[in-house]
Amino acid sequence: MTDMLHPTMTQLNDFTKAPEPSVIKTLVEQAIAYKTNPFQDKQLGANKTLVLLFLNPSLRTRLSTQKAAINLGMSVIDINANEGWKLEFEDNIIMNSDKAEHIREAAQVISQYADFIGIRSFPSLTDQEKDYSDYVINKFKSFASVPVISLESAIRHPLQSLADLITIEEHKKNHRPKVVLTWAPHPKALPQAVPNSFAEWMNLSDTELVITHPKGYDLHPDFVGNAQVTYNQAEAFENADFIYAKNWSSFQDYGTIKSNDTNWMVSSEKMALTNEAYFMHCLPVRRNVIVSDAVIDSKQSLVIQQSENRVYAAQAVLAQLLSNK
Ligand code: CP
Repeated sequence: MTDMLHPTMTQLNDFTKAPEPSVIKTLVEQAIAYKTNPFQDKQLGANKTLVLLFLNPSLRTRLSTQKAAINLGMSVIDINANEGWKLEFEDNIIMNSDKAEHIREAAQVISQYADFIGIRSFPSLTDQEKDYSDYVINKFKSFASVPVISLESAIRHPLQSLADLITIEEHKKNHRPKVVLTWAPHPKALPQAVPNSFAEWMNLSDTELVITHPKGYDLHPDFVGNAQVTYNQAEAFENADFIYAKNWSSFQDYGTIKSNDTNWMVSSEKMALTNEAYFMHCLPVRRNVIVSDAVIDSKQSLVIQQSENRVYAAQAVLAQLLSNK
């Protein structure tokens, strides 16, 4: 076990949002150490079981979190929780629909088989109040008796944001890089979880965060925090060190598409405005909709490195949680 596991032993009891800056710093350092030597703590998770419940699809989160657990010697059980039968989350309800099991029983049952539970649950994009209460993951937390890890909830994706921060730390050329979160078009209405979380983590780190999007796409103010917001994408890109592209649906006119302006796609011409910025995206990405082939295939693109860092981000988080067991 590395020394870095000790300072935050009482501070990370689950992982559903950004922890405090000192914990973030420890997680980044631990993740970078694991990248150099992935098996240094291969006994830490012996005889421990991670159960991953996916209520929505995943490629990166599913595989990287499993790989992280394997690196720590854990066993992993991975299920698509909405296949077979659906879970009921509402209380005081007559269960005569297609939902066969209530979260009250399911969370307690799964807790008997798991040392940690990871959950992916996307928002409805129809009920803002319920989505922004992070209803599903908080229901699990209410009834589970083991730590819960967000694999992307209605409003946050902390494992992605930690991997993104690790990637920025590895590639930054100055102490306080200018990081631009830019909206980009997409044919479907997508959640705000990735941009919310990215802004939350950047605000807690040593970065100058600028958020740019068309009118009608302002994120929840709690996530925007101290970031500068501009509707002028070209202005935002000037002297940027990192361009982080993502589509999201409207928060104000909740869950709707307000614009599909193709001029917001990240192109080589736009990247030329930057300080030779790196391009980032969490993936999956729609080529020549969100970003041009030329940009994503360039040497400035970090999208594959981000997905690699998903393993070490998850490993650092699991190690911290295991050290608290
Ligand atoms: N970035 C990300 O979370 O990818 P998946 O949806 O494939 O897990």
